[in-house]
Amino acid sequence: MFNNKSILITGGTGSFGHHFVKVILENFKPKKLVVFSRDELKQFEMEQIYHDPCMRYFLGDVRDEKRLTQAMRGIDYVIHAAALKQVPAAEYNPMECIKTNIHGAQNVIQAALANEVEKVIALSTDKAVNPINLYGATKLASDKLFIAANNIAGGHRTIFSVVRYGNVVGSRGSVLPHFKKLIKEGAQELPITDERMTRFWITLQEGVELVLKSFKRMHGGEIFVPKIPSVNIVDLAKSIAPNLKLKKIGIRPGEKLHEVLCTVDDARFVLEFDDHYTIQPSIKFSTPADYSLNKLGERGLPVDQEFEYHSGKNPHFLEMDELISSYKVTV
Ligand SMILES: NC(=O)c1ccc[n+]([C@@H]2O[C@H](COP(=O)([O-])OP(=O)(O)OC[C@H]3O[C@@H](n4cnc5c(N)ncnc54)[C@H](OP(=O)(O)O)[C@@H]3O)[C@@H](O)[C@H]2O)c1
Repeated sequence: MFNNKSILITGGTGSFGHHFVKVILENFKPKKLVVFSRDELKQFEMEQIYHDPCMRYFLGDVRDEKRLTQAMRGIDYVIHAAALKQVPAAEYNPMECIKTNIHGAQNVIQAALANEVEKVIALSTDKAVNPINLYGATKLASDKLFIAANNIAGGHRTIFSVVRYGNVVGSRGSVLPHFKKLIKEGAQELPITDERMTRFWITLQEGVELVLKSFKRMHGGEIFVPKIPSVNIVDLAKSIAPNLKLKKIGIRPGEKLHEVLCTVDDARFVLEFDDHYTIQPSIKFSTPADYSLNKLGERGLPVDQEFEYHSGKNPHFLEMDELISSYKVTV
């Protein structure tokens, strides 16, 4: 599906972007693979690693619709990964987060429509579900924009879907590199927020595979949620440094004890497939789709009306050895 196609990824120099580019170059022969982001140094460093002739490095800001429209000329598939995603930074600089995560999302939509891009997938997070911080709220608004974009696409061929998951093992600014840094600096104890805290856990490889599959599965308008395990923060700390003491520092502003990927209120829209859930759009589109049969021919069934996909109630928690191997391959 990606051979001889032109692909653009916003935020292509980030954790997801790096791995996405690696997987695409190892498995496909795209016509063009465009990395779109702001910082020239990150692009320069990435270019030292990935310099296949199909690669294009575009400096640009998702806040700049004109630049996005230029960059998407001749593009078939777009992955929207660019975001400001540090919870405290978003609380202190709300308008900056809104401009990148919400206005940026709308600009990606407009640029994709203007260029008759075939398919667009935007990345979302569990923090967008019942959000309690601005980062999550902006990602929720972004998700809504992408889903509703299928309606404004009338007369265009472009379809839009969202892929939503939880913590990515070892991604920039996440807990794992933080713990590793503290250990390297000789820390005598590791800070943990609350011993009850749980998180959904996904590797970059799984995240990229999910996005690639979603391109094949999508009708447009769905939110794809993978079935992934949970981890407990104490297990995580113990798996990295079994002999270090843990120091409880309390939940930080904007943090939850547990995360949710599908709420009880979503249940009536959720379909269960073998390895993922699909949240159907709550709004009606002019061209309705049968979401219970995806474009790969897989069938999904409605879930129980009490269904909630909650990191603390997840039947699948990682055992210590699984946890260790999940981050050994990543960091
Ligand atoms: N990491 C996780 O645990 C996680 C979990 C769930 C969902 N997600 C979602 O997955 C996506 C990718 O996350 P990630 O971990 O790869 O993030 P990341 O490592 O922080 O990368 C973010 C990327 O976005 C670019 N960017 C930021 N602001 C931009 C702007 N205004 N215009 C253009 N590019 C911009 C950054 O490059 P420049 O700074 O050079 O512009 C960088 O390439 C995000 O949408 C995030 O919400 C992440």
